[in-house]
Amino acid sequence: MDNYLAFTLLFPFLLATAYAITISGRRNSRLPPGPFPFPIIGNLLHLGDKPHQSLATLSKRYGPLMSLKLGTRTTIVVSSPDMAKEFFQKHDHSFSSRSIPDMSRLLDHDKYSMVWLPAGDQWRRLRRISKEYMFSVQRLDASEPLRQKKVKELLDHVNCCCTSEKAVNIGGMAFTTLVNVLSEFMFSVDFDQYDSLSSQEFKDNVWTLMEIAGKPNIVDFFPILKMFDPQGLLRRGNLCGRKIMTIFDRVIDQRLQTLSTSSTNNDVLDMLLNLNQKDESMFNRNDMRHLFFVLFIAGTDTVSSTLEWAMAELIHNPSKLEKARSEITKLMENKKNIIQESDIPQLPYLQAVIKETLRLHPPAPFLVPHQAIHDVEILGFTVPKKAQILCNVWAIGRDPKLWSHPKMFMPERFLELKVDYGGQDFELIPFGAGRRICPGLNMAHRMLHIMLCSLIQNFDWKLEGNMRAQDMDMGEKFGLTLQRNVPLKTIPLRL
Ligand code: HEM
Repeated sequence: MDNYLAFTLLFPFLLATAYAITISGRRNSRLPPGPFPFPIIGNLLHLGDKPHQSLATLSKRYGPLMSLKLGTRTTIVVSSPDMAKEFFQKHDHSFSSRSIPDMSRLLDHDKYSMVWLPAGDQWRRLRRISKEYMFSVQRLDASEPLRQKKVKELLDHVNCCCTSEKAVNIGGMAFTTLVNVLSEFMFSVDFDQYDSLSSQEFKDNVWTLMEIAGKPNIVDFFPILKMFDPQGLLRRGNLCGRKIMTIFDRVIDQRLQTLSTSSTNNDVLDMLLNLNQKDESMFNRNDMRHLFFVLFIAGTDTVSSTLEWAMAELIHNPSKLEKARSEITKLMENKKNIIQESDIPQLPYLQAVIKETLRLHPPAPFLVPHQAIHDVEILGFTVPKKAQILCNVWAIGRDPKLWSHPKMFMPERFLELKVDYGGQDFELIPFGAGRRICPGLNMAHRMLHIMLCSLIQNFDWKLEGNMRAQDMDMGEKFGLTLQRNVPLKTIPLRL
């Protein structure tokens, strides 16, 4: 019997079982308030195509601690800083596990990946390794010249577009920069090129994979269907995943061949191979491949889409762009022309622009879903074991009780507020908080500031077809990350 036939015959039975589970779960617990679930599908219809917005609206009615049934999955939605503090500070350990989406099972990624592993020994080891070899202040300081080189290449590309008066796709261009920053940092090679004629094998596969992973998957609401993969998403994800892993394997094999003959590259791959040779049982080749995999998936689109939103907001608000630029020009008067990462603290308005962008457009509007390890009592309600936890940072960022004129882009608000995104101020947690906080935060912070600074310091930006700033489409669409409805394409003008 093929998968499709088996699926058709079993489907009614599976749905009836799912419904029984839905109803019994609701009766037996003191779940937080929430909309009453429909039979079988629960509250799926409440989600719509922009779930972060729909859940923000629902939480106005049911409060900052809300429960829903998404198919058979009990889901708790957190929508205020105080509640986020309860979850990711007071009960951080209890909520430190992950709810696993079906796509994360591609190539068994969920069993090896820092993002999806429960917060146990294997996860701790991967966090420690990535901090020690990549994200510590010392490693980041030592790798600054590499990021400078990549920003210079980005500026050279924009300069070429100026000469030909060609519009640039800001998000796409930033994505290429991020891919190359990471591939040079890890392997001392560029995985991508700005010109569209060169091979884009790596980028194309990463993009396709992200697109597939961003689609709603019925298996995530009815895990009982996972053996059927009814939409074929896991099958397609496996294909892309395999191509990406083949590229990593190629690089690792080439390095192993040259290791004995040539001098070292002193990059992350050299250090990880060293670690692997010292103690295979602690860190094997598969751990290494999956670590590379997760860092490219988590570390490219998040940064490039934030940069795209920041540029879009500045072009949409020309007086703010001017303010940011004059701050940079003033600082750079007595210095070499290229910004150093150590200059960032002296650019408070630029920092405020990045914070304001992350407040309005967090790339991961629900963070990465957490899961309760055991039943937890919160404010007299029970968050049951295995419940999926979504923290709606998008809703927190636009709550009028927390922010004046919450929908407006006003970086100035952060000049007075002592609020930072380091995980201590729960009204602004685009990188999460607690033990699962994003390990790439410091790298993202540096990249965002130096890229944005360089783009506005050296160029002015004109919209295509003489569109006026106030006519820009500032809408968003929900996927693996929160993207712009319309990609930002602008023509650079040399200043
Ligand atoms: C603007 C840029 C970025 C944003 C907004 C962002 C946001 C996040 C968020 C919200 C999480 C989940 C936190 C939680 O579950 O509570 C996360 C996890 C993660 N991020 Fe980032 N991230 C960014 C850039 C990066 C970069 C540059 C890298 C690495 C190169 C990276 C690697 C990771 C990894 C590996 C995890 C999983 C951590 C774990 O589960 O233990 N991220 N990030």
